[in-house]
Amino acid sequence: VTDPEHIVICAGFAQGVHLVLRALAETGLRCVAVEDPGHCETRTVSGMVAAKVTPVPVDAGGMVVDELRKTAAGAVVLTPAHQTPTGVVLAPERRQALVDWACRAGATIIEDDYDAEFRYDREPVGAMQGLAPAHVALLGTVSKSLAPALRLGWIVCPPALTAGVAKQKQLADHGSPGLDQLALALLIESGRYDRHLRRMRGVYARRRARLKNALAAYAPQVELQGLEAGFHAVLQLPAEADEQGVITAARERGVGLYPMSEYRAGGQTTPPRLVLGFGNVSDDAVERGIARIADLLRGSG
Ligand SMILES: Cc1ncc(COP(=O)(O)O)c(C=O)c1O
Repeated sequence: VTDPEHIVICAGFAQGVHLVLRALAETGLRCVAVEDPGHCETRTVSGMVAAKVTPVPVDAGGMVVDELRKTAAGAVVLTPAHQTPTGVVLAPERRQALVDWACRAGATIIEDDYDAEFRYDREPVGAMQGLAPAHVALLGTVSKSLAPALRLGWIVCPPALTAGVAKQKQLADHGSPGLDQLALALLIESGRYDRHLRRMRGVYARRRARLKNALAAYAPQVELQGLEAGFHAVLQLPAEADEQGVITAARERGVGLYPMSEYRAGGQTTPPRLVLGFGNVSDDAVERGIARIADLLRGSG
């Protein structure tokens, strides 16, 4: 719910979140809430701009808004459509509670919508921005829909923040490359962007099915979560497993995985879990990779 005057083009989410936080800091923002577990770069950037970063727990319904209410945060950064890294969706009653919180506290919701285009279980989940355009800064990117190397994204600004965000963008780099923006506009206007998304949904759905089948075949006791959207999933390891040990051993066999501890604000390693991505590997490589590390996942490696 916006118009072109309130959209600022930026260099992906990474720059977008920085610009919004800096614009808010100019208006007195001191404390930023982030998801725990959550994207570690977002935590770092929030800490660079604001005096205080408050991690708020995430459960099966997404960020626990009751916990957010107890904080002094003037902004919250979160991934409502597909939580990073757990993969859960922010529950409808929490969306409403979050908007109520923002309206009452005069706070800003920074909505990271980076992989919302890719859902496999239902229609894409709507953005929160339409519920409260004056309180939500919606950040989109083509990093997942096209390629991260393009460095193109957009900020749908709350109108009162547009000038501040535009100023920060001007100071940062005088604007994102015009030719790249024109090429993207042509792709969208010609309908080819939509066709590409439809085709890629099928490609990723197939890859995701290969991942599920490979795990069912090679490590059936390992629980897989968060696969309903996006390109990553969370693997629950046996309780006694050592996240870092499994990752080091897997890397020696040529398979890259991420520890859940990297996403936790306090670096906790229990329960041991791994985050694995399947967006940028071939269908066959997904299956080969799982076969190669199945004993590590089962706790018998
Ligand atoms: C949580 C999250 N948000 C956003 C992005 C996209 O960032 P960018 O648009 O800067 O490439 C990523 C990239 O992996 C991510 O993990």
